[in-house]
Amino acid sequence: MFSRPIHIGLSPNISADDYWLAVKSLFTPWSWKRGKSIEKVENWFKDHFEVHLAISFNAGRSALLAILESLNLEKNSEVLVQAYTCVAVPNSVVWAGLKPIYVDIDETLNLDIADAERKLTLRTKALIVQHTFGIPSDMDKLVAFAKKHNLLLIEDCAHALGGTYKNKLLGTFGEAAFFSFGRDKIVSSVFGGMAITNNKNLGTKIVQYREGLAYPSYLWILRQLLHVLISGWALALYQMAGAGKLILYLSQKLKLVSMPVYFKEILGRQPADFPKAYPNVLASLALWQLDKLPAMNECRRQIAKYYFENIKPSKVKLPVKVSGAVYLRYNLLTNRADEIRWQAKKQGMILGNWYHHTIDPKGVIWAKVGYPEGSCPRAEAVAATSLNLPTYPSLTKTQMQQIVSLFKG
Ligand SMILES: Cc1ncc(COP(=O)(O)O)c(C=O)c1O
Repeated sequence: MFSRPIHIGLSPNISADDYWLAVKSLFTPWSWKRGKSIEKVENWFKDHFEVHLAISFNAGRSALLAILESLNLEKNSEVLVQAYTCVAVPNSVVWAGLKPIYVDIDETLNLDIADAERKLTLRTKALIVQHTFGIPSDMDKLVAFAKKHNLLLIEDCAHALGGTYKNKLLGTFGEAAFFSFGRDKIVSSVFGGMAITNNKNLGTKIVQYREGLAYPSYLWILRQLLHVLISGWALALYQMAGAGKLILYLSQKLKLVSMPVYFKEILGRQPADFPKAYPNVLASLALWQLDKLPAMNECRRQIAKYYFENIKPSKVKLPVKVSGAVYLRYNLLTNRADEIRWQAKKQGMILGNWYHHTIDPKGVIWAKVGYPEGSCPRAEAVAATSLNLPTYPSLTKTQMQQIVSLFKG
């Protein structure tokens, strides 16, 4: 059942053992909300990052919101965020009563410090540093920049669990950091997130904030477990006369699974599901994968190495080669991105389109998330030309060769 086609979405991390864990968990609903796995995942983060506190949530966006709310910034303070991001990031800023100010990106696809400098005002109080696709931002410069302008630095490690900058773990450079266990992240429990901090005062406030949150409903938790099962079956049957696609379509229509970003969020509104506490059963899925993290990240690096060695930079722009990167997705830039995705699809390979929109996903209304059109030209151009290749650990050598063959000739 797990001889899967090349498909960058659909929980590519999920392997047979994760699948069976989700199946077994369906029959123990009494352990879905509270239980020991939550503390175990938090302790894993505390130990791994050697930080004072790790506080779990039901999504990365919930963790970010908790951090921002706990900073006690004056309403409408400005927070620098990069364009070429997921709408979940600026939305959390807005939901916290703050104002996102968009900064353009550099060649690493991370925040461009020169543009950040231009966009500073007296109201700028914080800076969210994203490590896009697991490629580390230049933390020496960013930490110095934040210090010089008295800004609180928050690391967005949604793509970068296990990545390093100059041999120091990403997530340990600022006031706080957050991680995502979303469906196609480094470690996935379909939804989930973690905030970490070494600042005791801030940590206490985040804990208090989380204590005030309810757990998601049983129905919501059930949907996440079903996601693991349904995506497993959909992948297994993907090439069978469209059966996999039909399963996916029907499960979305019947609301058996949740969308990664809700329609409300695309309109900038806050769904009642965020923020919530992290349910125990999802923590048990994450815990299982955290044990495999070093091996999984090594696989991602090896797959990225293969692409670096076998795709000619004359055909497309390759991502930057940086030690410490984890390459959640291997992102190429090409004017032929849509055409190549289409060609690949005809051959049964589903490649990725993060971030096909300056503030992703499709349909985000820029005015609602405060993005002034044209304010980050590089991010807008990069969004139009991005093409992601998969690096998930179950990708086989033959599949990698098949992908590379798209760029030959
Ligand atoms: C860069 C980035 N930050 C934050 C998030 C939000 O994480 P979550 O989906 O766990 O809320 C995402 C989601 O994809 C993301 O891509």
